[in-house]
Amino acid sequence: MDAAAGSALGWLCAGVSTFLGLQALCRARSSRRGRARALLWSLLPAGLCAGALGAAGALALLAAVCLLRALCGDSDLLPVRDRAVLITGTDTGIGHALAKYLDSLGFVVFAGVLNKDGPGAEELRRSCSQRLSVLQLDVTSTTQVKEAYLTVSEKVQNAGLWGVVNNAGILGFPADGELLPMSTYRHCMEVNFFGAVEVSKTFLPLLRRSQGRLVNMSSMAGGIPLPRYAAYGASKAALSMFSGVMRQELSKWGIKVMAIHPSGFRTGIEGTAEQWDQHEKELMENLPADTRQAYGEEYLLGLRNYLLHLPSHCAPDLSPVLAAVLHALLARSPQGLYTPGRGAYVPLCIFCCFPLWFYDFFISKMLSAGSVPRQLRTSGDEGKNL
Ligand SMILES: NC(=O)c1ccc[n+]([C@@H]2O[C@H](COP(=O)([O-])OP(=O)(O)OC[C@H]3O[C@@H](n4cnc5c(N)ncnc54)[C@H](OP(=O)(O)O)[C@@H]3O)[C@@H](O)[C@H]2O)c1
Repeated sequence: MDAAAGSALGWLCAGVSTFLGLQALCRARSSRRGRARALLWSLLPAGLCAGALGAAGALALLAAVCLLRALCGDSDLLPVRDRAVLITGTDTGIGHALAKYLDSLGFVVFAGVLNKDGPGAEELRRSCSQRLSVLQLDVTSTTQVKEAYLTVSEKVQNAGLWGVVNNAGILGFPADGELLPMSTYRHCMEVNFFGAVEVSKTFLPLLRRSQGRLVNMSSMAGGIPLPRYAAYGASKAALSMFSGVMRQELSKWGIKVMAIHPSGFRTGIEGTAEQWDQHEKELMENLPADTRQAYGEEYLLGLRNYLLHLPSHCAPDLSPVLAAVLHALLARSPQGLYTPGRGAYVPLCIFCCFPLWFYDFFISKMLSAGSVPRQLRTSGDEGKNL
């Protein structure tokens, strides 16, 4: 590259980085005084850097500013006022905590529950404000989705509904994709994908009226391939793709669509020992004899160990997910994708930026290998059950 071209590129990068840096800093500060100070402090060094550092230095500056921008995000939030939000799957876990959190901030919350007489629904009625309404809403039931729509539209009247959070989801039984019965694939798709699609399609007329927000709770497993998550991950990948396409299509209506890809949070999504018994039984019953023989009883009966240890690898504090949903609902410029939780972004970056063989190697090192199928065992593997 000759000197003139290098210098032009340097100035271009410095210009872009100044713009992005200013945007990030201005958004990070809400006061007018803060903005003026940010303007002064970012214009000066960016200009100096471009002159002094040339093309390479300015490119590095651009990369650093992009990082700063990603870290700062847009902290400029719209006021809550009495915005109405529907959340599905609020009986337990993230949805339950989110319903309480948004209620405490002043939102009008419609809390969809799988069981309106269950302990989760009771707890919401007991501990939340009068603004919160509990709705019976199995997302796989067209009738219940329609009834919920009628109730919500009657209550919000002309104000419209500001947000829909498709949170309801199931994990199924994490196991090798070859071993999972078709019912697990179907059930994951029914709840995690078709349920969210039907809720979205039904409530979009209300979101159009308010130019509101559609937030889809996908998963880290929906953005990257992870062993044992063939059924769950595929259903979440479908949901993430739905989110992306809807984001593009609905922008013309002023509706913003966001996907959330959390990493591991401790919620009880892994299910109970009775549910594992049921999954295990169904899995065993549907295995062809030679597959059963190849994997061996020890491997098959050890699959549940993964679920047993899952909570200890998950974060007990749900606040990063709640903060991501709040940002998606209220930021003037929300991100299309949120990755709350420890290390959620790292595997995604490696998956996107590196060759697949490197990503597979990274994942194999990151995740414990589990026990070895009978047919692949060597004498060194005997008695090994990781
Ligand atoms: N926890 C994590 O680490 C994590 C990570 C990534 C993504 N996510 C996603 O976050 C969302 C919330 O999960 P969570 O961790 O909070 O698990 P959770 O505690 O099991 O919450 C899921 C909720 O959805 C409900 N539900 C299940 N099937 C439903 C249906 N057909 N219709 C309506 N509601 C239904 C469940 O009700 P019951 O309790 O009665 O079954 C439960 O209340 C899920 O979409 C999950 O995939 C979680």
